[in-house]
Amino acid sequence: MALGDRGAGRFPPVTREKIIITGASSGLGEGMAREFAARGRSLGLAARRLDKLEDLAADLSAQAKAVAVTRLDVTDTDDVTRAFAELSAELGGVDRVIVNAGLGKGAPIGTGNAAANIETVQTNLVGALAQIEAAMAIFRAQGYGHLVLISSISAVRGLPKAQAAYSASKAGLSTLGQGLQAELAGTPIVVTVILPGYIETDINRGVKTKLMTDTRSGVAALVKAIEREPRRAEVPAWPWKPLAAALRFLPEAVSAKLV
Ligand SMILES: NC(=O)c1ccc[n+]([C@@H]2O[C@H](COP(=O)([O-])OP(=O)(O)OC[C@H]3O[C@@H](n4cnc5c(N)ncnc54)[C@H](OP(=O)(O)O)[C@@H]3O)[C@@H](O)[C@H]2O)c1
Repeated sequence: MALGDRGAGRFPPVTREKIIITGASSGLGEGMAREFAARGRSLGLAARRLDKLEDLAADLSAQAKAVAVTRLDVTDTDDVTRAFAELSAELGGVDRVIVNAGLGKGAPIGTGNAAANIETVQTNLVGALAQIEAAMAIFRAQGYGHLVLISSISAVRGLPKAQAAYSASKAGLSTLGQGLQAELAGTPIVVTVILPGYIETDINRGVKTKLMTDTRSGVAALVKAIEREPRRAEVPAWPWKPLAAALRFLPEAVSAKLV
């Protein structure tokens, strides 16, 4: 286990058997559900499209130990607590929560498309905070847990035009994770912030970049990183770890073209 992982190895390795994943109806959430099911874990899956979750649950039932699903819109912040409590009850507890639901709607600010930017922040930051509240209440009560926040490389630096609100929402999410890490250091509640680079899913359909990773490899890298339980991981590490470091310092004319 690398330094910094699970509090620099203070705790013995554990398998997180019971995992809640939000935004599991497509893309990375669905991919992670498939990967954890193949590892025989119990899964609690949430998203707005219940029909997709039900189809996925049927697919995973032979491999996963258990699969529970619930319809959840994370912008309905009061409903998040209900959803997590319901999934936890069905699984017989929760060891890990992956805050993954998110969207990438956005438009240049001040061009008459405020609704898209506001929805992005409400989902990716306010909705994520509601999930973090619900997960942390469970973890504090039981005294342990692994909270995983799916942020983005775009959290590293404010991005222009249609990405501005998205990158701000993800920066806010990363900062929430950092604050919790400072608060929970040395306790059995572990917080991991994941910064994916471009991985092929619906969120970036139509984006043309040589930096795109295919869904399968991207999801495999994500799950490997999550299982290691680091404080923070860029995924896939190549090329995103060095790029994330460079993004902080590159001149604007260069950084704006990178992501
Ligand atoms: N793919 C990438 O390159 C990339 C890079 C960096 C970060 N990310 C992050 O990875 C996460 C997953 O995205 P993805 O790439 O897998 O895109 P995706 O295929 O579009 O999946 C997004 C998921 O979020 C769910 N979701 C959206 N709004 C929701 C809401 N209000 N309530 C509940 N669920 C909601 C969607 O389900 P429903 O529509 O059924 O609700 C869907 O399952 C997002 O947080 C995204 O920002 C992705």
